[in-house]
Amino acid sequence: MEKLIIEGGIPLRGSIKVSGSKNSALPILASTILWPGIYNFHNVPDIKDVRTMLELLKFLGSECSFKKNKVKINSIKINKHEAPYDLVKTMRASVLIWGSLLSRLNKAKISFPGGCAIGDRPIDQHLSGFQSIGYKTIVKSGYLKSIATNEIGGDFKFKMKSVTGTENLILASVLGTKKTILKNCALEPEVDDLITFLKSIGANIKKMGDSITISPVDSLKKQKKSYEIIPDRIEAGTFMYLGCLPQNKITIKNVDLGALKDVIKTVIKIGAKVEKSENKITVTAPKEIKKLNIETNPYPSFPTDLQAQLMSVLVLSGGTSKIKENVFPNRFIHVAEMRKLGAKIDVVKNTAKIIGVDTLAGAKMQASDLRASAGLVLSALCASGKSEIFRIYHLDRGYEAIDNKLKRIGAKIWRTKE
Ligand code: EPU
Repeated sequence: MEKLIIEGGIPLRGSIKVSGSKNSALPILASTILWPGIYNFHNVPDIKDVRTMLELLKFLGSECSFKKNKVKINSIKINKHEAPYDLVKTMRASVLIWGSLLSRLNKAKISFPGGCAIGDRPIDQHLSGFQSIGYKTIVKSGYLKSIATNEIGGDFKFKMKSVTGTENLILASVLGTKKTILKNCALEPEVDDLITFLKSIGANIKKMGDSITISPVDSLKKQKKSYEIIPDRIEAGTFMYLGCLPQNKITIKNVDLGALKDVIKTVIKIGAKVEKSENKITVTAPKEIKKLNIETNPYPSFPTDLQAQLMSVLVLSGGTSKIKENVFPNRFIHVAEMRKLGAKIDVVKNTAKIIGVDTLAGAKMQASDLRASAGLVLSALCASGKSEIFRIYHLDRGYEAIDNKLKRIGAKIWRTKE
């Protein structure tokens, strides 16, 4: 295992290019199962989760290659309908192949994904959704076994907005036998990217507000040109908060500013200077970070995936801030690690109270999940002296070459064996 060593307190200046979106790439790659064909994608982030998804596709019978952010998949020979425990346990998003396998082979056997460091994470909405559109599932020996009935399609209203739930239901219904209407769907840009890709290969999907109507088609079309994955808004937001930390000035390129409206508002509210142009944004740290109260909620509200990174900024504010976590109420494992640097944070139920301090000092910290790790990296970069972050495989799941990107803007950061 590797750890990150960071010498903090150095002003960071320069520009960083954002990679392709993890949470867009994963469902889109999974969707190549739907119809036998040859698929090409570019702007695919070179991260562990993408490599795990490609392993999963290879296990099912696809041929995959991945070079310089370009992925080629030949899904003609898919012949297995099972996602084994060893692959699913390393990445919850493996659950996304469930819907595609059901469409292609009328059956799927998926290892139950279970909980993870950010909370319980049930999949009851995927299950009830599949049931409503004609798939029967039994849970046995840690596996979910689903099969198609004669009629696939129907109506389903999600109890809460679920990103992968919405994506799975779309994937399971594009090749159905009758119309599917999904209500209270997740509005995340990553869901839109999946819809855009599926439409480009012939799916008939219409979105109106948070309703999605899928009119089934008998077949999908040959892909005409390579599909470009959208930029990662969470990576962009992570670097925007890095720009807010003392003495930093960072230009972030390849950004979809429209997808980050609520995040940009927080950056302005905490006092940072923001300069925007078409697809880039420069964030200059304020003299004093202002306090802020915020809640995480589904898109277009402030995302849970940036909660830890924003916290790393508020820790140094000139007042007391509050963050209420409404999406994953227990997603606060980073708090105990940030305290080691001198941060003052109290958590009561799903709300963190952050009492601003003047400085942080480096310490040894343990990464627990992907976004928590990013928050710890930001904190370590502004803490004086040396920090060590253990278990950074969490970080590598979702941030492409983050240490190299940070080195280029002046950070003293390197990897060694634990
Ligand atoms: N939920 C249920 N039942 C379900 C599904 C969801 O109760 O069947 C609840 C969850 O427990 C949570 C809320 O609904 O309280 C939203 O969960 P959602 O299903 O939207 O989460 P997800 O689809 O499993 C995706 C992202 C996460 C991101 C969340 C929320 C992918 C591959 N993952 O997860 O990304 O935090 O949406 O935006 O798209 C990350 O990138 O680090 C990450 C964790």
